[in-house]
Amino acid sequence: VVICAGFSHGLAILCEVLRQRGAAELAVEECGLAAHRDIVTGAGLRLVNLPVGDDGAQTAQLSGTSAGAALLTPAHQFPLGMPLAAKRRADAVAWAAATGGTVIEDDYDGEYRYDRQPLGAMQSLAPEHVVYAGTASKALAPGLRLGWLAVPASLMAEVVSTRTLTQRAPSTLDQLTLAEFINAGGYDRHVRRSRIAYRRRRDLLAAALREQVPSAAVSGVAAGLHMVVTLPTGQQETEAVASAARRGLAVQGLGPYSFQGSRPPALVVGYGTPPQHAFTGAVARLCAALADREATVPDQG
Ligand SMILES: Cc1ncc(COP(=O)(O)O)c(C=O)c1O
Repeated sequence: VVICAGFSHGLAILCEVLRQRGAAELAVEECGLAAHRDIVTGAGLRLVNLPVGDDGAQTAQLSGTSAGAALLTPAHQFPLGMPLAAKRRADAVAWAAATGGTVIEDDYDGEYRYDRQPLGAMQSLAPEHVVYAGTASKALAPGLRLGWLAVPASLMAEVVSTRTLTQRAPSTLDQLTLAEFINAGGYDRHVRRSRIAYRRRRDLLAAALREQVPSAAVSGVAAGLHMVVTLPTGQQETEAVASAARRGLAVQGLGPYSFQGSRPPALVVGYGTPPQHAFTGAVARLCAALADREATVPDQG
């Protein structure tokens, strides 16, 4: 395992290694983070968009591309929220095995799975072709800048030397502190406790939306710290984002995460950030923003 300064750093290292090995293109899910795309193109690789369906990224299409690698969020597509179906996982692994391609498995919120058995990592299907990437950004804090890559043996030496060249390895003290937290059982306890707390938040938010804005639809809720709220017919994303902002809420439209194809207007709503005492009020204000009326629930617990 190679420790890096969060997933973004790990991605930059991997793109550099893959480019040096001769890759010219990297496949990404058509919906995702602009920052990750910028890292890929910044490393000199071209992007190939993979459409995302109800069963996740359409990985069967990889074999029709000249991509040398694919960046996927198999456990919980970001931001749409569906898991990558077993068939699609198998397609990706078969493509990697046939072409010598590399899959980068971005498991950014794997600790937070609520309604189904934990999904196995794709990496276990083909450890020689899949880099598993984890991060402390969701379970602990993004400011820590700590992540980890489980790297195929054949890429290890290049990944380590490229990390050294980037001069951005996280501080040894931070690494040792996290190691001690994990070894002493604190990390597990924290994840178990916070999973219950986030699950309650998710339930509260989804129930409030269903009751107060029945024409909105929630999806992607089985895991993670965010959900997608498809807007009532006729509402535009920019209006909904502005209406939420007027009520003191920072939410984003789905648009800035969509790079190909068209999807119905929706919000990507994170529910991990508000402090506990402000959560009920934030939910009420979001419902009010979507129903375009005043919030009626006071700011408490
Ligand atoms: C899709 C996705 N991948 C990875 C990460 C984590 O990135 P980092 O470890 O660089 O903070 C995030 C955000 O936390 C994310 O939304």
